[in-house]
Amino acid sequence: MTVGCIIPAAGRGERMGRGQPKALRTLAGASLLEHAVRAMAASRQVVHIVVAAPPDQVASTGSLMGSLRIDARVDVVAGGETRTDSVRLGMAAMPETCTTILVHDAARPLVPIDVVDRVAAAVEDGAPAVVPVVPISDTVKQVDEAGQVVRTVDRSELRAAQTPQGFSADVLRNALAGEDLDATDDAGLVERAGYPVLVVPGDQEAMKVTRPLDLLVAEAIVRRRSGRVH
Ligand code: C5P
Repeated sequence: MTVGCIIPAAGRGERMGRGQPKALRTLAGASLLEHAVRAMAASRQVVHIVVAAPPDQVASTGSLMGSLRIDARVDVVAGGETRTDSVRLGMAAMPETCTTILVHDAARPLVPIDVVDRVAAAVEDGAPAVVPVVPISDTVKQVDEAGQVVRTVDRSELRAAQTPQGFSADVLRNALAGEDLDATDDAGLVERAGYPVLVVPGDQEAMKVTRPLDLLVAEAIVRRRSGRVH
């Protein structure tokens, strides 16, 4: 099994406030993207990484990637209008020798190596698509446009989906071949294409850095990992 990884990093990240693309926000002295690439390359199984960067930042992202001392090969391509477009463009640049593909958000900089290995191993064991998930701690309400609660969803049946999501390369190519597709995650596309999607345990530290508070939490995790707890 040869594992390739696509990192969509072309989002503008409006929820973080104005400024540079979200993937280039700084966390403990490096961009979220650098952390995410290092985290994926930490799994020795990942041999090839394709980053989808904002179209006007392909060259600068390429130099940034060149400065990382990692064993995996890293290519940078221009991302697209939507996340799905960025993944499709990343997949087009992925060598055919990679038979297992992991798709990982640049916005999840601290994914632990165990999660990466667990997802890759489940694909290797024959699952067409694999998603790491965590339980949901808040009670979830479905609401209508008037601001009324329609129902309370049974939390025990719900999970929050993280990345990397893993796919057999053929399955991901088929799922991405549809027209006008967009999904907030790739497993959603694969699900719609009719394939079964397996879940494996994720990890709270694979959190998505979306809002300013998330950055504070991520910084605390980095400090704890490097032994500086205060
Ligand atoms: O906006 P959201 O948090 O859902 O973005 C998830 C990931 O998809 C981010 O890493 C973002 O950079 C990426 N993305 C992309 N191309 C887009 C939109 C989002 O690569 N057009």
